[in-house]
Amino acid sequence: MVNAIQFLDREGTFTIEQPENYSGLYFPIAGEGGVKSALSPNLGGDIKIDQNTFLMEPVSVENLHNNRSGRNFWFHTEMGAWSAVGASAEEESKRFTELQDRSELKAGFMWQTVTRQSAKYQLKSEITSFVPLKHNVEIMYVEIRNMGSLAQKIVPVAAVPIFGRSADNIRDHRHVTSLLHRIRTTENGVYVKPTLSFDERGHQKNHCTYFVCGITGAGEKPLDFYPVADEFIGDGGSFAQPWKVIKNEDGVPAGSRYEGKEALGGIRFSPITLNSGESATFTVVMGITENEGEIENILDAYQTTEKVKKSLGDTKKYWQEKVNVRYYTSSSRFDCLMRWISFQPILRRIYGCSFLPHHDYGRGGRGWRDLWQDCLSLLIMDPDGVRQMILDNYGGVRIDGTNATIIGAKQGEFIADRNGIARVWMDHGVWPFMTTKFYIDQTGDTGILEETVSYFKDGQAERGGSLDSRWDAEYGIQQRCTDGKIYKGSVLEHLLLQHLCAFYEVGAHNHIRLRGADWNDALDMAAENGESVAFTCAYAGNLTEMAKLLLLLEDKFGWEQVELLEEMMVLLGDDSQVYNNVEAKKKLLQKYLQTCIHNVSGKKVPVAIQKLADNLQSKAEWMKKHIRKTEWIKGDNTEGWFNSYYDNSGKPVEGYFENGAKMILTGQVFAIMGGTAEDEQVAGICKSADHYLYAQEIGGYRLNTDFQEQKFDLGRMFGFAYGEKENGAVFSHMTVMYANALYKRGFVKEGYKALQTLADTALKFEVSKIYPGIPEYFNGEGKGLYNYLTGAASWYMLTMVTEVFGVHGENGSMVISPKLISEQFDEHGKAQIQLRFAEKEFHIVFQNPKKLSYGKYTIKKAVCDGKLEFHCDGNSAFLYREEILSMQDGVHQVEVYLG
Ligand code: G1P
Repeated sequence: MVNAIQFLDREGTFTIEQPENYSGLYFPIAGEGGVKSALSPNLGGDIKIDQNTFLMEPVSVENLHNNRSGRNFWFHTEMGAWSAVGASAEEESKRFTELQDRSELKAGFMWQTVTRQSAKYQLKSEITSFVPLKHNVEIMYVEIRNMGSLAQKIVPVAAVPIFGRSADNIRDHRHVTSLLHRIRTTENGVYVKPTLSFDERGHQKNHCTYFVCGITGAGEKPLDFYPVADEFIGDGGSFAQPWKVIKNEDGVPAGSRYEGKEALGGIRFSPITLNSGESATFTVVMGITENEGEIENILDAYQTTEKVKKSLGDTKKYWQEKVNVRYYTSSSRFDCLMRWISFQPILRRIYGCSFLPHHDYGRGGRGWRDLWQDCLSLLIMDPDGVRQMILDNYGGVRIDGTNATIIGAKQGEFIADRNGIARVWMDHGVWPFMTTKFYIDQTGDTGILEETVSYFKDGQAERGGSLDSRWDAEYGIQQRCTDGKIYKGSVLEHLLLQHLCAFYEVGAHNHIRLRGADWNDALDMAAENGESVAFTCAYAGNLTEMAKLLLLLEDKFGWEQVELLEEMMVLLGDDSQVYNNVEAKKKLLQKYLQTCIHNVSGKKVPVAIQKLADNLQSKAEWMKKHIRKTEWIKGDNTEGWFNSYYDNSGKPVEGYFENGAKMILTGQVFAIMGGTAEDEQVAGICKSADHYLYAQEIGGYRLNTDFQEQKFDLGRMFGFAYGEKENGAVFSHMTVMYANALYKRGFVKEGYKALQTLADTALKFEVSKIYPGIPEYFNGEGKGLYNYLTGAASWYMLTMVTEVFGVHGENGSMVISPKLISEQFDEHGKAQIQLRFAEKEFHIVFQNPKKLSYGKYTIKKAVCDGKLEFHCDGNSAFLYREEILSMQDGVHQVEVYLG
């Protein structure tokens, strides 16, 4: 069977025929300026800047087939009205018949073109949508061609419904808010400027103008306008059958005004006669601005076909260059998929976890753990500015080791909780260290640990356990000392607080408490007694790495001591009596928390590096041993795995039960990644995961087995249907982290299987039903959901680059230690990657003529630009940062000989 999605080049440009015949497809186009759009194949979807500023009505995935309020472009002809986007009642009735328009969608990063040809109307349209680099608008560029042998007269009409308000107003006074609309037509299009931004907590004067303007490719202005939805549709009509177009009735002239109506960017152009084969073009510009004066200037920039095409070309180039990692393996389809996966973190930087049809929640801003993980891929693609981003983000940590959970649109803008609920996600402490460690590895910038940053402060105290009654808005959102000054501590101190406080915050089984939830947001009903063994493993892994890092600082950089907040000293108690005793741990933590409910002393004391490293190491070892001793579930034959959680009834969640084996992937991932699992245990886990979680046809490793119960003493996930989202779907993010952990531990064959099954399923369009990319999850039928905006993309990319191709930094120097297996090399025994490292561009070619697999080859030699030899030890090749920094600009060719 031929796959419906075909790639047209190595950049990932793809095409699909009759895309409207598949439901639920959507494509993102956006710009750096804030416009974020979603496009269905028929140009449904929406356009917005943020939660309160939607130009088109916000859509959920179900609206993609239900909603007719999409972008449309009509041609009134002698035979009737033809929708060039395929969104007409007539066209819908012809779906899957011979009479259906022939259509094809082509798309690349941030642009989509749909061509459509009608046999009946003898017209062919090509509509390209993109958000240009220079202006905060979406462009819809329409080319129409007469495919018949006779000349025809056509009347072009653009029709884009203007919602012009907040997404909240869908179910909060939709009608009343339409009464706020003030609509007017200019000689360019329709402007809507509502009087107020509706919010019953306090209405705000509105400053935004929503506009839809049009111009012909030759620079001619529209003929007249249809600014009111009702009038355009007419009695008994709809957006799929608008009477104004069907009857070609006159619109209103420029200078018309309306109040209190649902608005439409309805623009009629002068009739044109196209001879056989002749074409004409039109540009529709849709945007939102607080400065109406700029609209004219914006239109000037897209006034002719040439200008639009130039802008489209620039846009394509910009985004292609942004994704500056290229992959070459035995499968060019996989390589193209990797381009899309590498693009996804950029999309999540722009969209956050909201604003695409599946992501019909959230209000913008970016969640704490997502933000830190997206930094991982930015460190590979766009490292400038990441240092500052990391520093700013540490300002979100509270002195009790918890953090503000949302970072606003501006870096350094923190929101305690999106929904105003005092929640602590117990995993939040682990992500900043993972990213910071990667940053130091890639750049060698250990100095970042010494930089001082403030702490976040609000009314929450004692890790969400109490309120600081003395805190108020006047105090501000930065932690202060008793003398009123803002307290600043080193990045290292922030990291230590995140880990040490967590270490002591244990439940009855001496694992870290689950609190509001961990990585799995849907484990949100075990706040009192739940424990996350999974993330206890993650904290333990981090503490080991942190201890190693400290020793490196001592060894290589001569660090002898660090200055830490005096109150913290209690957390550095190093006493296995306390470690073993849950009550003693809680008491110790409480002692610390009591000292910093309101202000801190501001006093710092020196701590010797060696002592600190030993302390962290002993804590890490204690946690790992404790988990190995108490949580290992021994299975048949050499199978086995770790219990990942305790529920609110204080019971272990996994193991063998009457209704079958229960296993969750999360605990295994962090036990493997952080070193709790010993090598034999990793092998056992792989066997169990293959036995209980693996389902090749739907993407590979599921997040969990079917518990067959609604466990209300653990979380909402058990209310979800099995196989969906956090309840047993193949949840890409966790599966990718599983692969990453396996690669790290040298379980390459197993890691490859996890990664590849995801990729294979994503690429199998007849199963996944998605455009290229990795979705958040594959459901029980293998369908991909929540496309584009997932942390899985960052981790997939990270794993391919740093583990599979094995190109990564070690204290700023470049290390190449590939874990490619035989089938990843092409027919010439080559695999290649192009990427930036230390501000230089490298094209690295792995030469493996015998196509040996990982484990069978060593690195014989690695040479840069035919002359500079890497330092090799068989498994890895090494180039000092100084050697790299002294290189010229331009692409450096590296040959790595394997044999
Ligand atoms: C999403 C959220 C992430 C959360 C995960 C599991 O994952 O963004 O914060 O940890 O669900 O609940 P993603 O879509 O990034 O893969």
